[in-house]
Amino acid sequence: MKTHLLATFLLLLSLIFFSTSLANRSPYFTASTLASGLLSVANYISPFSSVKSSSTCLVSELGDDCRLSSVTTMKRTHRNSRKEETDVIAELSSCDIFDGNWVIDDSNPLYQPGSCPFIDDGFNCFKNGRPDAEYLRYRWKPHGCKIPRFDGRKMLRMLKGKRLVFVGDSLNRNMWESLVCSLRESLKNKSRIFEVEGRHDFKSKGFYSFKFQDYKCSIDFVKSPFLVQEWKIADKSGNRRERLRLDMIQGSPTKYHDADIIVFNTGHWWNHRKANRGYYFQEGKHVYSKLEVTEAYKKALLTWANWVDANINSSHTRVFFRGYSASHFRKGQWNSGGLCHGEKQPITNESHLAPYPWMMSILESVISEMKTPVFYLNITKMTDYRKDGHPSIYRQPEIIRIPGLIQDCSHWCLPGVPDSWNELLYATLLLSKT
Ligand SMILES: *[C@@H]1O[C@H](CO)[C@@H](O)[C@H](O)[C@H]1NC(C)=O
Ligand SMILES: *[C@@H]1O[C@H](CO)[C@@H](O)[C@H](O)[C@H]1NC(C)=O
Ligand SMILES: *[C@@H]1O[C@H](CO)[C@@H](O)[C@H](O)[C@H]1NC(C)=O
Ligand SMILES: *[C@@H]1O[C@H](CO)[C@@H](O)[C@H](O)[C@H]1NC(C)=O
Repeated sequence: MKTHLLATFLLLLSLIFFSTSLANRSPYFTASTLASGLLSVANYISPFSSVKSSSTCLVSELGDDCRLSSVTTMKRTHRNSRKEETDVIAELSSCDIFDGNWVIDDSNPLYQPGSCPFIDDGFNCFKNGRPDAEYLRYRWKPHGCKIPRFDGRKMLRMLKGKRLVFVGDSLNRNMWESLVCSLRESLKNKSRIFEVEGRHDFKSKGFYSFKFQDYKCSIDFVKSPFLVQEWKIADKSGNRRERLRLDMIQGSPTKYHDADIIVFNTGHWWNHRKANRGYYFQEGKHVYSKLEVTEAYKKALLTWANWVDANINSSHTRVFFRGYSASHFRKGQWNSGGLCHGEKQPITNESHLAPYPWMMSILESVISEMKTPVFYLNITKMTDYRKDGHPSIYRQPEIIRIPGLIQDCSHWCLPGVPDSWNELLYATLLLSKT
């Protein structure tokens, strides 16, 4: 019991989430128009920017030319089912898959609640006794097109011999576990997947790797909440203090720059209290006594962007950046009694959604200046509807749940919302592969 409480306490410490600064748009940046580095489904199919067509395919097996025109011509000679698929893809390529709404869909979730052994307890709402199941019935529907149903076997075939790495904070861990479980569901023999160190708890270490034996593919997670390096260093009086090196990419226990697909994110940690206090941000030898978090965030992203441009071979590696995932705390913040318990329906009135986060405006402007094409998974708005999808009090089993417990209104129950992010990732890979 004691260790449980300790674990709970540590978990609380690791829940570093506010949503207040969502609304503070940075005065310095406006959302840029799509420029060379920033890809959407539409513009890597019909590149109107300076992006070369070779760098506009994802996991391409067609070599240099993967524009839709050539794909369509090739497929015309195939059977009907192939033609239907081509039609779906043609429709997808001209639509903004992130602009849509949630619809009730009575097909099963990508994996049954409670069926996947690789979900952290904190996301396992079913195991923790969440009684309502309505939140499992929603499916994302873009306005202009249909997205193909996630097909785990097909995705595993695309990933054969490849390495896909998620790099970021616990929201990327949420997405990583969702993908591992969605792919696992398609295996005939569910013992043919394992975590390389045999782990079943994915919170404490900096690196985890799942291998799908029959496909020689690995799906990894690298913990890097700020993308840049946080470290502890002694100040003048000898006290060890946390500093964030804005000019230094976070070192990783594993090299991942040559993975086939990388999905980055950073977000919620920039809202944390320590990001708003003095003497936290450091650049070279210089420690700032005060630096606006918007400035610090931009410096960090530029460090990340320069690292990607210098270290990632974009003919080999496809780079994604997942956008800001919305939180839904009522009556307070994550650490001041904020609540989302009892939410059973998504938001339907668009005017109740939060403004586009300032972080994402900065991100768009940084990506658009990059040499490396980066596909932006613009999931902010789609997550903002889903106030019903968070673990809330079901981040813990009932036996250790204490009254007044901090609710988790930042992460997502699994199965749940991140499954749809992976469905969009799948659609994007499918589109570029065909
Ligand atoms: C499933 O895979 C495991 C691990 O490779 C193996 O030991 C077991 O025999 C397999 N089961 C079946 C039914 O093929
Ligand atoms: C980049 O990747 C491509 C495709 O795998 C390869 O042919 C090329 O040699 C790589 N370039 C460098 C500089 O490693
Ligand atoms: C949406 O919310 C706004 C502001 O609260 C309100 O004025 C409007 O009537 C709502 N629309 C609908 C369709 O409920
Ligand atoms: C991302 O989505 C938001 C709506 O939430 C939109 O305002 C923004 O322009 C989109 N960004 C891109 C690059 O499409």
